[in-house]
Amino acid sequence: MSATYHKATEHSYWSVRQPSRGLDWSMQPSPFKIYEEYPLVPLDLDNPTHKFIYYLGGIDAKKSYPGVEYYLRTIPSAGALYPTEIYLQIREVEGFEDGIYHFDVAHGGVRLLHVLAKDEGVEVYFHDKRQIKGFLVLYSTIYYRSSWKYKNRAYRYCLLDAGHALGALEISAFLYDHAYHIHYDFDIATLNERFGFGQKESFVSSAIVGVPKSTQARELRMRLSFVDGTKTFEPNEMIEAAMEATRALRHCRPNFRYPKMPFVKERLDEVVVQRRSIRDFKGYPIQKAQLKFVLDFMRQPIPSDCDEEVRIWYVVNNVKDMPRGLYKDGKLIKEGDFRAKAGYLCLEQALGSQSAVTFFLTGEGQNYCPMMQKAGHIGHRCYIASEYQKIGCSGIGAFYDQEVQEFLGTEDMVLYALSIGV
Ligand SMILES: Cc1cc2nc3c(=O)[nH]c(=O)nc-3n(C[C@H](O)[C@H](O)[C@H](O)COP(=O)(O)O)c2cc1C
Repeated sequence: MSATYHKATEHSYWSVRQPSRGLDWSMQPSPFKIYEEYPLVPLDLDNPTHKFIYYLGGIDAKKSYPGVEYYLRTIPSAGALYPTEIYLQIREVEGFEDGIYHFDVAHGGVRLLHVLAKDEGVEVYFHDKRQIKGFLVLYSTIYYRSSWKYKNRAYRYCLLDAGHALGALEISAFLYDHAYHIHYDFDIATLNERFGFGQKESFVSSAIVGVPKSTQARELRMRLSFVDGTKTFEPNEMIEAAMEATRALRHCRPNFRYPKMPFVKERLDEVVVQRRSIRDFKGYPIQKAQLKFVLDFMRQPIPSDCDEEVRIWYVVNNVKDMPRGLYKDGKLIKEGDFRAKAGYLCLEQALGSQSAVTFFLTGEGQNYCPMMQKAGHIGHRCYIASEYQKIGCSGIGAFYDQEVQEFLGTEDMVLYALSIGV
């Protein structure tokens, strides 16, 4: 099914030239979900625990155009539509009542949705039911925020965006000295029900940032009513079917290896809020060592309960002392000047041709949700390692799928592209 959805949402030279209905601006979804009736705990950025939460996806910039204002966050998002929502179970953390919270991004705080009794907890929906002292972070997606613009292809972007959010958690956990482990295999259907999501929102992943206690959690007694996270909604049958079909995971291989974090914390702290997607490259070369730094971080292991292989290919357009061409695993597999080709493949976006390097991430895994989120997570690492070295980066979700496959010489699904450069 994952391959079916992916195939059905490929872009081709012809598909993007079909007449489209254009965007219905009256149906533009809100990027914010607000649980107005629940108490807000404003995040105080001088408090390290609060800052750990803020870095998961808080607002860090505002853009104004005539008649519109929009807010940018510590995580990038396809089309700045932000389909990802973040919930936290917080247990025995100083300054917080034990409970289930929602990250209210619009108001820069967390809202307490449910106070936890001693015995209950979200852990009951996980294989290991031991209570976690610390944070259990839950990621959901509100697909319509993205499908409003990107139609059927939007579910890909929802998963990539959620992967970026996991990447942001990795950075925040490192800055605030927490270990983390990503979980995909939990009872999503029951949790969706407890949170009152209906068909409009669904959990896609979670991360444990804490330590297990000896007591097991019991059934959560929380029953939330539906809160609208878009204010407008149009169902998308293909996406709902794909979400349903890709929920069950098969033959998951866990990964317990942790990444090496090659960063000085003071600088990384600046990078998190400075990170932006580059819009135009000036076309200067980058150094070989700079590319190596980015690639080394992208290739670090990602600890999770369902690790799918994601392959990294890259077109070198403009790197000092490196022949131009297509590379994989440090080897030049096709020499040549592919600048124009890389731009064309990224739906004729100059980002692909004027970059120093354009990456393509591919995979063939059975477990689509974990694989796509891993691609997004690796993409986040690409942004952070680039920005750290003052190099620009942009995610590229739009590409001609089959032509990328032909160019790379692979039958893998093409999951994501990214460009870096100055
Ligand atoms: C999954 C994904 C796909 C994206 N695809 C494109 C793209 O095809 N072209 C582009 O110019 N930017 C793309 N972007 C960048 C977004 O436009 C950008 O993240 C968003 O406008 C927010 O800005 P910021 O990253 O500076 O915070 C993509 C970002 C993500 C996360």
